[in-house]
Amino acid sequence: MILSVQPKLWLIAVFLFFFSRSYAKQICQSQLLGDGIVRFYEANAIIKELPPSMSLEREQKVLGQAPAEWTLIPEFSVDKRGSHSAVVRIEPGTSLYGTGEVSGRLMRNGYVIECWNTDAYGYDGSTKSLYQSHPWVLAVRKDGTSFGVLADTTWRCEIDLTENIKFSAQGPSFPVIVIEADSPQNVLKKLASLIGTMPLPPKWAIGYHQCRYSYYPDKQVLKIAKEFRDRKIPCDVIWMDVDYMNGYQVFTFHPTHFPNPTGLNRELNDMGFKTVWMIDPGVKVKKGYFVYDQGVAGSYFVKRANGREYNGKVWPGWCAFPDFTMPETQNWWASLYKQFMARGIDGVWNDMDEPAVFKTPTKTMPGDNIHRGGDGLPRGPHAQYHNVYGMLMVRATRQGIQQANPDKRPFVLTRANFIGGQRYAATWTGDNTSDCNHLEDSVSMILNLGLSGQPFCGPDIGGFRNDCDGKLFARWMGVGALLPFARGHTEKGNINKEPWMFGDGVESTCRMALQRRYRLLPYLYTLFYEASVTGLPIARPVFFANPADPKLREEDDAFLLGSDLLVVPKLRPDSNHVPNLPGGIWRSFSLVDEDAASDINLPDLKIRGGAIIPLGPVVQNTQSSLDPLTLLICLDENGCAEGKLYEDEGEGYDYKKEKFLLTTYRAKTVGNNVIVQIASKLGNMPSPERNIKCEILAEKRAIFNKEDELGLIVENVE
Ligand code: NOJ
Repeated sequence: MILSVQPKLWLIAVFLFFFSRSYAKQICQSQLLGDGIVRFYEANAIIKELPPSMSLEREQKVLGQAPAEWTLIPEFSVDKRGSHSAVVRIEPGTSLYGTGEVSGRLMRNGYVIECWNTDAYGYDGSTKSLYQSHPWVLAVRKDGTSFGVLADTTWRCEIDLTENIKFSAQGPSFPVIVIEADSPQNVLKKLASLIGTMPLPPKWAIGYHQCRYSYYPDKQVLKIAKEFRDRKIPCDVIWMDVDYMNGYQVFTFHPTHFPNPTGLNRELNDMGFKTVWMIDPGVKVKKGYFVYDQGVAGSYFVKRANGREYNGKVWPGWCAFPDFTMPETQNWWASLYKQFMARGIDGVWNDMDEPAVFKTPTKTMPGDNIHRGGDGLPRGPHAQYHNVYGMLMVRATRQGIQQANPDKRPFVLTRANFIGGQRYAATWTGDNTSDCNHLEDSVSMILNLGLSGQPFCGPDIGGFRNDCDGKLFARWMGVGALLPFARGHTEKGNINKEPWMFGDGVESTCRMALQRRYRLLPYLYTLFYEASVTGLPIARPVFFANPADPKLREEDDAFLLGSDLLVVPKLRPDSNHVPNLPGGIWRSFSLVDEDAASDINLPDLKIRGGAIIPLGPVVQNTQSSLDPLTLLICLDENGCAEGKLYEDEGEGYDYKKEKFLLTTYRAKTVGNNVIVQIASKLGNMPSPERNIKCEILAEKRAIFNKEDELGLIVENVE
């Protein structure tokens, strides 16, 4: 009897298994958007009724359907609770990356994270959602070919990478864009063709930034600035955190601590500093306060489900929150920056823009609050717009500071953002902690942000939460000075964390770390330019050197700056992990002086054989001229090398009218001579008058000056 029932049960189970799978695996609709780029929709999605994409820079032209040979087809399903999912299956040996701002390791296989912008103070490796949302996964197959998957939804969305790539959104059906290419680099370029790139920032933003929560009063700010100059520690920017405001009211200044912000900015500018000032989204509810009054008069604030103004508590107490989905609010918010920037402010820091709300279990506003939309954006609940609140805010901020200073390039830093948000703002990794884990995370987090479309990012150097000792600080400055956004910051109540606060040894390490950054500026600025054109990250994982090398896939204790510079930081000097580095010629070099080479806290630097890296002199800020220009030449096995230098005025938009220079230098060995020449030159900015030095790294290291006859022929290099 038992024997006869069991086979039947098996049959039913097998039937149910296949039935449920085929039910889930609905046939989908597809749109070809470009070479190797296909957008998929659930079979019964009514495409024209879906909200516009918030991640794409512009609506895409549909070129047809997925090609017949296309294999990466998402399987859409919907569960009993109405949660929509899409699964893209992966082959064994596929490594997964991206997923935006996430703590933990670089390689994301096995992780489950949630896209839900969260004020994640005190986060660690197990925190599922941080401040930003990038529903995007970059996959690299065993053979180094690559694909990427973007779930184009703004709703709360889980990314489950335990088996395959699975997105589950707590909202309606969403499109999935799949990108195929022969390398991860080319997937990222195609991603950039959809979501746009980071606009070229002003050059000063690439220098070192000094911040704390908070420097006040104004005299203290000047004291910090003067210390940098007196101690000859390079620095470009001083930051004003929330305490500069009067009672934390945005667009106001504390009457006694900052009575004359224009004067302060002028004094700092005279010392060669730029300034960045914070603006939060929460507007204090207070009749008579001009920002609140204007917001009420224009009906610019987010409403509760019952139609009344929503109020939540942040720094100033009860606040109203601009509804950035409304074009009227965008324009109003932008207009507020006119007077603000007129005080000589150079950049703006938008913080708490998840938006963070205190004293609520969700740490944000209710999901059923109403956003009214407009200009193509539908009216919708906060649950739909939560993940793009920060992005919409920085869009308005950028617009405002652009309108206030039309001849300058805006600089905005944001804590919350969404995929595509690199179009408006740079970012940092929020409230990290002063410990070894977060020092390590600084690298992997920046790499994954870069692999998710955001090249301009960095951690709080030294850690935001808690105090640290000099050793940790020195190591953090060593690596932080080589990440795209380099800013020291710390929380209120902590010890001071300026480079000189830990004694002479640490100060000297920090000075060398920052001198290295400033010597590398020509190379870094060239990488920023490249990122603004192609979407490629500035800090890149080492596997970019050879995506087919399995040993490099998990390595996050080293990274590449561009494709030519390898950085091996001292993250855990007590660990015996020896980083897996790419094969081929990589030669060590010293940027500052021999002390740097022996400083145990500074990263090792290696240049790729075949590369030329442009270097500047040690300077105190980015406003200094590039004289002498040094070409660091590392010959390959054939005695050749090539490299690029991008230059422009560092500010403004004349570079868009050809006022730039993009010079390709080439070196080749002919007999006993290395001949260095310009291979090509683009742009029509006049060539600067300056000295050029060439430093050649080959089997035997030699340094030549232009006039020397020691086997170096430098021909028409300007
Ligand atoms: C939270 C930010 O993450 C932090 O960097 C800042 O110092 C504080 N807000 C105070 O404004």
